[in-house]
Parts: sequence; C-alpha cells; structure tokens
Amino acid sequence: MTRDIPPALSLYMHIPFCLQKCRYCDFLSLPLSDSNLLNDYTGALLTEIRLKAPAFNERTVNTIYLGGGTPSLLDGAQVNKVMQAIRDNFNLDQDVETTLEANPATVNRDRLSAYRDAGVNRLSLGVQSFIDSDLACLGRRHRVKDALKTVEDLHQLGWSNFNLDLIYGLPGQSMDGWKYNLEAAAALQPAHLSAYLLQLDPVTPLGRELDQGLWREAPDEQLAAMYQETGRFMSEQGFIHYELSNYCRPGLECRHNLAYWRGRPYLGLGSGAVGCVNDRRTINPWPPADYMDVLKTGVLPPGRVLEVMNRRERLSEAMIMGLRLTGGVSLEEIAGRCGMHPRDKYGPLIDEFVERAWLIESCGKLRLNPELYFVSNQVLCHFID
Ligand SMILES: C[S@@+](CC[C@H](N)C(=O)[O-])C[C@H]1O[C@@H](n2cnc3c(N)ncnc32)[C@H](O)[C@@H]1O
Ligand code: SF4
Repeated sequence: MTRDIPPALSLYMHIPFCLQKCRYCDFLSLPLSDSNLLNDYTGALLTEIRLKAPAFNERTVNTIYLGGGTPSLLDGAQVNKVMQAIRDNFNLDQDVETTLEANPATVNRDRLSAYRDAGVNRLSLGVQSFIDSDLACLGRRHRVKDALKTVEDLHQLGWSNFNLDLIYGLPGQSMDGWKYNLEAAAALQPAHLSAYLLQLDPVTPLGRELDQGLWREAPDEQLAAMYQETGRFMSEQGFIHYELSNYCRPGLECRHNLAYWRGRPYLGLGSGAVGCVNDRRTINPWPPADYMDVLKTGVLPPGRVLEVMNRRERLSEAMIMGLRLTGGVSLEEIAGRCGMHPRDKYGPLIDEFVERAWLIESCGKLRLNPELYFVSNQVLCHFID
C-alpha cells in the first residue's frame, strides 16, 4: 500500500512592528515603541517554532516569508536566530525560497548582507513611489534616495532576486507620474514588480481625508488606463504578467504567493499571523503582548479558528484565488484537491461566463479574459460560496 505524501508546507512569519504607521495602511502592525521589544518578540518566535514544528515533521517546507509590518526592523542577528530555529526544527527543501519584506528606511548594506548570510534569498522592498512628494503624502519614513541606495546595495551584494512594491492611484497622481514610476522601477532591474491599486480603509488618515472630501480619487477610467499601461510597459521590458498585480522575469515568480493562490497549506507564526492547514484557517493572538505572554509560559498560543472549510467552500476559494493567476486554473487539479469538480457547483456559471467571453476555456484550463483583469472582482465575486 502506498502512503500519500503530505503536501509541501509554506511558512508565513509576521513581524507586527513598523517605524510608524503609513497614512494609508491598515495592515496588522503597530509603531515600535521600544526597540528592546524586538528581542523579546524574536524570543517568542523561537519558542513558537520549537513548539509548533513537531506536528509537521512529515512535511517539507519549500517557501518561507517574513512579512509585516516591517520585518527589516529585525537586525541580522535576530533574523539569523529565527532562520536557524527554522532549519533546526523543520525539514527544509534544499531549494527553499526565503523572502523578507523590507522598508528602505530600515536597511543598510551590512544588514542586507547579514540577511543573506542568514539564508534569506529573496527581498521585497516597499518603494511605493519614486517621487518624494508622494512618499511624504503617504507618510512613508523613507525617501527616493533611500530606495535607490538599497537597490544599489542589493546589486553590489550580487543579490538579483528582489521585488519592488509600487502603489498607483495615489492622491493627485497623473498618468505621467505613474509612467515615471514604472520606468524608474524597471531601470533598477528588479526580478519582480508588484503594482497595487491604493486601497483605503476609512480608519486610515488618508481614507478619512478622502471621506471628508479633502482630495478626490482619480476616475475609474484613469485607474484602468494606469493598470493597462503597467501590463503593456512591463511586458515590453520582458516581464511576465503572472498574477493580477504581479510581474516577474521568466521563472522568478514569488513561489510563496503562488502557493497561496494555488491553495497550498501554510503555517502562520507570530502575533496576528494567519495560517491554513487541512482546511482550517486560524489566526494567532493579537496584540503582540498577548502572544508573547502565552509563549513566555512555554505553551503554544491557541490559534483562533477563523473557518473550517467544507468542500464547497474549498472549491469557492480555489476558483477565486486560482483565477487571479493569468495562466488560470486546471479544473481537474481543483477537483482532485477539493474533492468536488468545479463543474458540479459552477457548471452553468462557467458556461455563461465562457459564452460572454469573461472566462476563456482551453485545454482543460479556465482563465480570466485579460480585458477584465482590472475589474476582476466583478467576475470573481460570482464564485463566492
Ligand atoms: C507589508 S508591506 C511591505 C513592507 C513594509 N511594511 C513597507 O511598507 O515598506 C506590503 C506592501 O503592501 C502594499 N500596501 C500596503 N497597504 C496598502 C494599501 N492600503 N493599498 C495598496 N497597497 C498597500 C505596499 O505596496 C507595501 O509595500
Ligand atoms: S505600509 Fe508597510 S511600513 Fe507602512 S505601516 Fe504598513 S506595513 Fe508598516
């Protein structure tokens, strides 16, 4: 009798601190009040890794992602401790992809070099814009020269696998301003570019100002034109548009995020981290003080269960996440993974959307019509369970 090989595992580790909150951001992070906290937090992570890993000793970890917040607030020694603990406690794939998110305000050449020595092999840099007045408006702590210096350091260290994050739809941003950003990013020769449309929660300072009428969003047609321009320009530069907001040089997709979009299991470590293994989505305690208090007692914090997906919910998630990939989804693969064929639940919807050319079906794969990428939610929302 053959035994099923458990699927590979991804690790997401949340570093929930930032120098200060950016004016647009509602991610789970707090301004760092005292840098000593980082040592305590690293200690808590080491304990969580040690306690959590044994349940996963049959799995191989093939991607690790240190996200935030601002993981680059951790110094080289702290990242090294975390990486060593992961190596000591989990089975790592030889070719494991390890990404760390960095804010240009927090890194210098020595720190980048130490991250690399610690085993980080992919860096994701939060640039947002190459125009200083945009950065000031966003409440960023870094300026353009800091991002340029960080990339120069990366190149000098021979570090080619890095991503740049940009945001479009910024207050007052023109098409020319956005094109300037794209050109500035491409000139730095990244392996990967993420270009996000500004999303504002009303609780953020910029969101409040929008509600108060202090500035106006660009019309949808202009935002759509910026999105189209991103795809056109990046493909001219030799990048593959592989996910709605993501572009990479051939073969340099973010494997960690691909694992999310393909519904692979991932473990969440750190305060506020979400994980999803065996269809159970859980979240670690928040705020960080609560998380650290539990770990100090030497026990694992209870992950709060966010949902336990049944077959129909699994299928819904597989379609919504998978259709974000420009290569689309294989219906047979999803059927195998979810225990239910997408056609059994969505047959009439799929036929209707193919008929309307919202979806394209070929060779057993289903994908979004590229003309609808910018308004993808209007299609994907029909797959919500
Ligand atoms: C966790 S942050 C990256 C690392 C670091 N915290 C930083 O900002 O430099 C992930 C990325 O999400 C994007 N992001 C955050 N909030 C956003 C928002 N409200 N709208 C659009 N993109 C956002 C930014 O591009 C940011 O770089
Ligand atoms: S955008 Fe990044 S640096 Fe700014 S508050 Fe959010 S997580 Fe922190």
